[in-house]
Amino acid sequence: MTYTIPVELTSSPKPKPAHHNQAFGTVFTDHMFILDYDAEQGWHDPRIVPYQPIQLDPAAKVFHYGQTVFEGLKAYLTEDRRILMFRPNKNIERLNLSNRRLSIPDLDEELVLEALKQIVLVDRDWIPSEPGTSLYIRPFVIATEPVLGVAPSLQYKFMIILSVVGSYYAEGINPVGIYVEPKYVRAVVGGVGNAKTAGNYAAGLKAQDEATAKGYSQVLWLDGVHRKYIEEVGSMNVFFKLGDTVVTPALNGSILDGVTRSSVIQLLQHWGIPVEERAISIDEIIEAHRSGTLVEAFGTGTAAVISPIGSLEWQDEKLVIGQGVTGELSSRVYDAITGIQRGILEDPFGWVIEL
Ligand code: COI
Repeated sequence: MTYTIPVELTSSPKPKPAHHNQAFGTVFTDHMFILDYDAEQGWHDPRIVPYQPIQLDPAAKVFHYGQTVFEGLKAYLTEDRRILMFRPNKNIERLNLSNRRLSIPDLDEELVLEALKQIVLVDRDWIPSEPGTSLYIRPFVIATEPVLGVAPSLQYKFMIILSVVGSYYAEGINPVGIYVEPKYVRAVVGGVGNAKTAGNYAAGLKAQDEATAKGYSQVLWLDGVHRKYIEEVGSMNVFFKLGDTVVTPALNGSILDGVTRSSVIQLLQHWGIPVEERAISIDEIIEAHRSGTLVEAFGTGTAAVISPIGSLEWQDEKLVIGQGVTGELSSRVYDAITGIQRGILEDPFGWVIEL
């Protein structure tokens, strides 16, 4: 099926940023995509309009019960000015998984893909091309029905906004210090940890604040039941190189199925590097550090791509990993993924689509 998405172009285009060292997610493009839902018409009225504030009733359910989900993906401009998007279908699939978990009606995946392509094409002049920069695409759904009863909303908006971004962390691809969180948990199995919903991020802010006050960049989340098994790092998935093997926590229901996570696993397998998805306890990591087999650790996410971990603090012990510098594997994975994303390296996996 082909979709026609009407476009209303802005009459007052904004100036584009002269550099890309602004904070992540602060510069937005000229247009946005909107799609409405109500119980009678289902999802309807797709359109691209000038970027603008939206008006919502103060009783809209998203404000009270957090019925909302989002995604994050990126588009890139190659040296020969082609526009590439990285694995949009994975994000669209996960968007519907998140929707189902939050009792939000499924979106038509073909329409979402078409909307992603069209909005990026409309704002194509905003896509930066310097290394380390991209157009960050933020699709999201909010419950808009103005009713305070606790029940799934009968009205929603699906929107896509675009932001010109450089590095997610001020550190860039330099190692960050991590605090292993002893008190707070991010999610539990049976909860919403594997859905990309706002509450997971709101619930992580307090621990992040406390870690920042102690001088750390991020927290390492342990599981909510045993307070022992590693789940995620900040808002990223996490990998450890133990000897010659790379390990990452298995998707157990409380961990987000990251697109970069799955790409890293495929890449490692492609290179013949053993990779295991399994439960990893913090004790195993401490022990591996003591015995000298903890070679590297890094976080993976769309925003930062790869974020090397230079140190971990756990129960007043500070573990410096790989002398605190970016490890060989972290750099290799970063170069390979960003190279494929930017169309510099061959893409043997069919991850990249050209608009
Ligand atoms: C990512 O790493 O892509 C994230 O999920 C962070 C995002 C919430 C800014």
